Amino acid sequence: MKIKELRIGNIIIPCNVLLAPLAGYTCYPFRILCSELGAGLCYTEMVNCNALKYKDKATQKLLFTTPEEKIKAAQLIGSDPRIMEKMARSDYFSKFDIIDLNMGCPVPNVFKSGQGSALLGDLKKASSIIKGCKKSEKVITVKFRVGIREDEMIAAEFAKMCEASGADMITIHGRTRNMMYHGTPYFDQIEQAKSVVRIPVIANGGIFSKEDADKMMELTGADGVMIARYAIENPFIFSELTHKKIKKDKHTIIFEQIDLATKYYDETFAISYIKRLASFLMKGKKGNNKYKTELYKSGNMPELRDILEEIFCKEREKD
Ligand SMILES: Cc1cc2nc3c(=O)[nH]c(=O)nc-3n(C[C@H](O)[C@H](O)[C@H](O)COP(=O)(O)O)c2cc1C
Repeated sequence: MKIKELRIGNIIIPCNVLLAPLAGYTCYPFRILCSELGAGLCYTEMVNCNALKYKDKATQKLLFTTPEEKIKAAQLIGSDPRIMEKMARSDYFSKFDIIDLNMGCPVPNVFKSGQGSALLGDLKKASSIIKGCKKSEKVITVKFRVGIREDEMIAAEFAKMCEASGADMITIHGRTRNMMYHGTPYFDQIEQAKSVVRIPVIANGGIFSKEDADKMMELTGADGVMIARYAIENPFIFSELTHKKIKKDKHTIIFEQIDLATKYYDETFAISYIKRLASFLMKGKKGNNKYKTELYKSGNMPELRDILEEIFCKEREKD
């Protein structure tokens, strides 16, 4: 795919390969890693506006960042336009340059409460959320799916609504809410949406290789791609796509992530994040199941380091 800079509102991002918001993964250390590997923009995981409103500590932690992170992008989820606006304008986001609005999450509890992908069925409300959040004077992006069900796909209509309401960029996950995380994305839906708006359109869904990224760009005409699950399995996809020379392997990466996670978060958070990340990074390797059990059994950081040394040293020998 052709790598280029992208202008999002008044912000220029260095390249058009983005890291998706991923609950449980895209904390500060992982965003720093992916930026270093070449990702042009890295979002926090979704942050619930109601939880923020009630000053929930765990939710606030998701917004941790430092000046080291050059362009700061957070994702907000909610269904009440007034609360969404209030939170977007609050001090919680004062350090952030970009706020993404989640209009794609398919999870049953989220959907039932009118949040995430439920907004695909209420364009009026979705529009007033975008307009309200825009008053924060931040750059506003929207991430949505192509529809709730396959017999009612609305990507182009929704894209036009986002643009008319003030969104500076949209990311379209080419699957419907009913498809959850499986099946081939509807490339034609993304293509149609791209053809009716002038703001940048990022295509997401099912990119698990360089070839998939090329195909996504070719079939949709999108301005860039966003990678989710494959980024936690193989973060080097960013350096591969952006032709960035990186002298690191997964062993180096996992230990750097431990250092960052323990520096900035408490041990409980760091341990559970590292376990989750490691089990993705070791995907497809021999002896995976045995190591995974040992990985999840480890109760403290020294134990975790020992088992990770064993897992990722083995990998080094193979490489
Ligand atoms: C574990 C997990 C957590 C996710 N968390 C979020 C999230 O917080 N916000 C969001 O917009 N999408 C979230 N997603 C959806 C991804 O950003 C992405 O749209 C989806 O996985 C499709 O991309 P992929 O096929 O490259 O994985 C999540 C997906 C997974 C698998």
